Amino acid sequence: MKNEIRNERKLENRDFSTEDNKHFEGAMTQGNGYMNLRASFEEDLDGEEQGERYWRLPANVTLEKIRNPVSKWGLYVPGIYGKHPILGEELVNLPYLPGINLYCHNERFDMRLSRYSGYERSLDMRNGILRRSLTWETLAGPLEVCWERYLSMAEKHCLFQRITFCAREDMELTVENFLDGGVTTNGYDHIESFEGICGGGLEMYLTLDSGQQVGMKSVCRVPGEAKAVYKRHGRRIAETFRLDLKNQEEAVVEKAGIVVTDADEAEEPGDLKGRIQDLVRGLRDPDSDLSEHCRIWEQLWRQSDVEIDGDDSLQFHLRFSIYHLLRIANDSSRVAVDAKGYAGEAYFGHYFWDTEIYLLPFYIYTCPEQAKRLVSFRYHTLDGARRNAKSYGYRGARYPWEACVSGEEQCSNWQYADLEIHVTADVIYGLCKYCELTGDEEFLRREGLEMLLETARYWASRAEKRKGGWHLTGVMGPDEYLPFTADNAYTNYMVSDSLCRTLEVLEGADEETRAAFGVTPEECMLFDEIRRNLYIPYDRERKFIWQSADFAHFEDIDFDKVWTDRSRPFGNCISQERNYRCKALKQADTVALMYLFRERFSREIKKNCIAYYEDITTHDSSLSYIVHSLVYGDLGDKKASYDYAVKSMRLDWEDQGAAEGIHIANAGGLWQGGVCGFGGLLGVDESGRPLVRPQLPEHIVRIRYPVSLKGKKYQVCVEKDHIQIKECEED
Ligand code: BGC
Repeated sequence: MKNEIRNERKLENRDFSTEDNKHFEGAMTQGNGYMNLRASFEEDLDGEEQGERYWRLPANVTLEKIRNPVSKWGLYVPGIYGKHPILGEELVNLPYLPGINLYCHNERFDMRLSRYSGYERSLDMRNGILRRSLTWETLAGPLEVCWERYLSMAEKHCLFQRITFCAREDMELTVENFLDGGVTTNGYDHIESFEGICGGGLEMYLTLDSGQQVGMKSVCRVPGEAKAVYKRHGRRIAETFRLDLKNQEEAVVEKAGIVVTDADEAEEPGDLKGRIQDLVRGLRDPDSDLSEHCRIWEQLWRQSDVEIDGDDSLQFHLRFSIYHLLRIANDSSRVAVDAKGYAGEAYFGHYFWDTEIYLLPFYIYTCPEQAKRLVSFRYHTLDGARRNAKSYGYRGARYPWEACVSGEEQCSNWQYADLEIHVTADVIYGLCKYCELTGDEEFLRREGLEMLLETARYWASRAEKRKGGWHLTGVMGPDEYLPFTADNAYTNYMVSDSLCRTLEVLEGADEETRAAFGVTPEECMLFDEIRRNLYIPYDRERKFIWQSADFAHFEDIDFDKVWTDRSRPFGNCISQERNYRCKALKQADTVALMYLFRERFSREIKKNCIAYYEDITTHDSSLSYIVHSLVYGDLGDKKASYDYAVKSMRLDWEDQGAAEGIHIANAGGLWQGGVCGFGGLLGVDESGRPLVRPQLPEHIVRIRYPVSLKGKKYQVCVEKDHIQIKECEED
């Protein structure tokens, strides 16, 4: 099934179907930096139980079978986590805030059961407004209904909703506003105590099993004198209003929903009830909130939009990616971005290397303040990383494969948790890129130095010295289909680079700082020795890098015999035992290294590596395609580069892959494909300006993009034979 693209700035859906509804809920998720809301309908959907309890086990997410196949409500505030006995800290799905049921006489409106025509649902990517309209053929006559809602960028704690009715007969309509706390997260109930208050709107206070507290309120404005009638059922509280609709007259119901938590870095400290009251009192009139909301979105787009002339599909998919990258840009540096972009519950709201390698470049170049928050998140969780290192018996700090608010390891699959150690070096790679491209030297010399030093200490105690060389054994590289390898080239190269950075920054540090961190000359010598001698499995004769020193020993596999159904991931067609001992890659590994250090590897090595690994890479991970596109671009193979970008574009929208959330790393990757690949943005040149070497595919006439670099803003415009880089005034 494929989605159509009709408008490059809108996501549209014109047929309701139980087959793809869940995908649209994920793809049209809204967000404002404080909270995120899946695009589920306001009303209940027949048969879609939202409080089902079960154990979603930490299987390989790529391969698992999914529950709640038609609809999954989701309201997520990053940083609000529950304690799960197996999954550790899990992002909590909060009570359903936008709930509104409609009844005409005794008939409840339901997308599955009711008769209606002219259905249309759309999300305007320019401002995050979700709209649905249709004509409900009630027993009393046709009723036109239009639902609109947005998470306000102006008042981050608020959801604003409006429903407009136009009846084609006089009729009586009952509007039921509800808040539903009967929801679970991945089948788990994290709510320990619950208080529901009806009167002057609906209010709900929760304490989660993490001890965190959440308060929610909704207030409705309805036409006329309608009085609220309150109802309770379990953890659902509701208020109903009876409206008399007149033939051809428009009637409007407005609702404001508010969320606060005790983890908010609250501007106004105080108890949750008091803060909610203040927010209700301070609510602006809807029109003025809306215009401020739109103004903020406009500004966000101005600093990040990429314009493509000559390829509508690339244009649409880049905007789709940018929309989601903007919506999830958190206001807090106590959280990062989870693998599903806060649009679903797969991966339990955890953070991966995706943050540094796939997302950070977008924020560094378009919104350095947000990049700083992401880098600072790793600084705030350094203590957690220290505890991790200690728990494994090492010194220093070891960032977790799956992180959450505490910075401690959250991954319950030992293979990834224990062996996928490259994430610690990836964090440092991201830190250094941030500091280099923004010019934030102060951060590098203070927080950065502590991160560098502590991770270097981890590497020094994790690496082993043998026969004059240094080695990292028992490692899983980014290619997760080979768990227990020796000297993974990606990992070792990244570690060596990160030790090199540590030494550089230490060199620039004064004696006092070195003493404060307990740095000794012997320690520096050790870092230097490891950095120089960490083994990279380089085959000089073939000008080729092995994925790991022992890679050649793994079994060759006949893909055609094993992977007989190419519509399923390769990993579904083979036992894990066999997968773990054969040369079949889940995703780009050594090839990723060729991109991350694109200036350091010769054309020949890149060519040899991609030629060899491409044939044995399954791309079972969504992170894989775009890296191939970028490396092919560097090699000047425009066709292959574009073909891979097309595969990356399709994942979420066209191939309807967003049911469990957005592949947000791929969204960040696609932006890199468009800007750092086709648009040629390599980094910073000697004079501090953008270094641009375009790789425009033949059919693309022009790419225009903004760049923020070392405190200055530029507009880059790339055409076939022309590059223009213009410095812009601050706005
Ligand atoms: C990929 C990892 C990635 C994770 C979260 C996995 O399937 O193999 O590289 O970090 O998904 O996106």
